[in-house]
Amino acid sequence: MQTLRLCANDDSIRYAARIIRAGGLVAFPTETVYGLGGNAFDAAAVAKIFAAKERPAWDPLIVHVSSREMLEALVAQVPAEFDNLFAAFMPGPLTLVVPKKNTVPNVVSAGRETVAVRFPANPVAQCLIAESGLPIAAPSANRFGRVSPTAAEHVLVDLDGRIDAILDGGPCKIGVESTVLDLSGAAPVILRQGAVTPRDLRKILGEVAVADPGVPFRPQRGLPSPGMMPRHYAPRTKLLLTDGEERVLAGAIQAWAKQKVGALVPSGWSICAATRFDWGQWGDWAVLASRLYAGLRWLDEQKLDLIVAPLPGEEGLGGAIRERLLKASDGAMWPPLGGRRG
Ligand code: TXA
Ligand code: MG
Repeated sequence: MQTLRLCANDDSIRYAARIIRAGGLVAFPTETVYGLGGNAFDAAAVAKIFAAKERPAWDPLIVHVSSREMLEALVAQVPAEFDNLFAAFMPGPLTLVVPKKNTVPNVVSAGRETVAVRFPANPVAQCLIAESGLPIAAPSANRFGRVSPTAAEHVLVDLDGRIDAILDGGPCKIGVESTVLDLSGAAPVILRQGAVTPRDLRKILGEVAVADPGVPFRPQRGLPSPGMMPRHYAPRTKLLLTDGEERVLAGAIQAWAKQKVGALVPSGWSICAATRFDWGQWGDWAVLASRLYAGLRWLDEQKLDLIVAPLPGEEGLGGAIRERLLKASDGAMWPPLGGRRG
């Protein structure tokens, strides 16, 4: 199949909406990462998403909507916290896991009783959903387990020839996936960190737990979110993390000097690595988040033995970057911390 590359404008969005209504697949920009969309009510279209990504059937998809009405049509029971969360963060980079209506096909939710819903802020995404008149099921538009795409070129590297079209809306502003908040249990739990931070959520909800990303993965029941498995969002090259200090990063690169080492290097750090990706100002977590996946993808193409990156703390978007790096590296730290994981 030939993948149409469409520059996002009113006409191309209308055309892409027709593809969605006809059961086809369209990759589209959101403010977080590019999504791979299909009609959420069409089980055959959703099955094609899993096939194109080579995503295992046990990993459920997020359903994207362009209005509160569309969202409520998917939800069996609107949780008590919903109004305040909607007012504070929607549209935006927050996904809610809620009890699902039977009209949502089981293939979307991988057989679960819940569905993940998100109202993206990106205008191209909103127009595509509104023009389709349908909720759009969309995982990140990458092959399963690979680094999420934050630009149209990244999508084409993974999915060219496997999907009907891509709407190119330029690079994604935030650059890491949405915060996933599970509201289906007794108390809210953050399953994946993102631009809506634990602190933001605590202002609305009071105490909120953050699930441990280091929990070993089991595809059966008992694990809140399949995407929490370690070694997700990963480059192919081995990734090693250091503390967020210039001299520790320099020490790690020196220790591995016999190998071809590349690094995500914060601006202004004097690091002698032959292959370096200028990541951005350390502490400017929003910029570092927006450049994280482009940096990992670029370093992954440089035929290195090892990628080294400093690990941010939990502050602001640092928490989301930290979580992604820990998953991508399977918790490998330098200097090694005896038995430490995730
Ligand atoms: O920012 C984002 O969320 C992007 C854009 C395209 O919206 N989407 C995205 O989708 O990252 P995906 O499929 O790559 O990640 C969705 C995560 C996965 O970890 C999945 O397991 C989890 O959400 N998830 C989806 N439905 C769930 C459910 N019913 N219960 C628990 N976790 C769920
Ligand atoms: Mg993904």
